[in-house]
Amino acid sequence: MAKRKATVPELRRMKEQGKKIRMVTAYDYSTGVLVDQTDIELILVGDSLGMVVLGYEDTVSVTMEEMIHHSKAVVRGAKNTFIVTDLPFGAYHVSVSEAVHNAVRLMKEGRADAVKLEGGVEFAGTIEAIVRAGIPVMGHIGLTPQTASALGGFRVQGKDLESARRIFADAKAVEEAGAFAVVLEAVPAPLAKIITEELRIPTIGIGAGVHCDGQVLVYHDLLGLFDRFVPKFVKQYVRLDREVVKALQSFSDEVAAGAFPGPEHSFSGNEEELRRALGV
Ligand code: KIV
Repeated sequence: MAKRKATVPELRRMKEQGKKIRMVTAYDYSTGVLVDQTDIELILVGDSLGMVVLGYEDTVSVTMEEMIHHSKAVVRGAKNTFIVTDLPFGAYHVSVSEAVHNAVRLMKEGRADAVKLEGGVEFAGTIEAIVRAGIPVMGHIGLTPQTASALGGFRVQGKDLESARRIFADAKAVEEAGAFAVVLEAVPAPLAKIITEELRIPTIGIGAGVHCDGQVLVYHDLLGLFDRFVPKFVKQYVRLDREVVKALQSFSDEVAAGAFPGPEHSFSGNEEELRRALGV
C-alpha cells in the first residue's frame, strides 16, 4: 500500500493501540526521498544538523535560516512523511511572541507539519502559545542538547530521585501545555516507562529504553556516517562511512589510472570526421 502522511490523531491512536512510532532525522532532499520509501511515520529535521551536517561543535550555533533551508529541502523529498522541525536555540528563549513568530516561520517557510522545542515546566507557556496559534508542538525533555552545558554535559538525566521528579514534572507540564508528543532523551528506562504509562500523548525515546511509545535516531548515527562520538544509545545498523570512503577511493584510483570513464560511460563520435571539420 502506498505511504500516506500520518496525522496527529493517528499518532495518539498508535499509542493507544500499542503500535510503536518510528522517527528518524533528515536534513536534505535526497534523505527525505529515501525515508519516504519506508514506513517510518515521522521525520525530524533536527538541529543536530549543526553537528552532523554543518560541522559545528554543538547545536547552539544553529540559526532559524539554517533550519528553514534544510526543512524546505526535506519536505520537497518526503511528501508522505510527517515532518517535525526543530526550533533552534535562541528562537524561543527571548519571548513567547518571538517563539510563536519563529514557529510560524518554520511552518510557512520551512513547510514543516509541526515544530519541536526543548524544555519542560519553564517552557509550558511557550508551548501553549504556539499550540494556540494552531501549530502542533513536540516537546523534548531529559537531556536537552541545546542546554547540555547547564546539565553537566551530554550525560544521562534523571538518575537520582530529585531529577527524576523534575523530569516527570516536565513531562506532565509539556502534555498539559498541549504538546502532541514528547521526546525523552537519555533518561533511565524505568523512568521513561513510568512517564509513558502516565502520559496520554506518545513518548518518543532516544536513550530512554524500549518502553517508550516510539523511538528516534539521528540518520547519520543509524547509518554509521558520524563517528565524532557514538553515544551508548546509538545502534549503527550499517557502517556506511567505510563503504563511502571505499567508493571514493575506487573513483580516485580509477581516474588516476585512466580506467574511468570507460566506453560505457562515454558518448561516441567519429574522431576523423571531427578532425577534418575542426581543421586539426
Ligand atoms: O536534533 C535532533 O536530532 C534531536 C534528536 C536527538 C531527538 O533533537
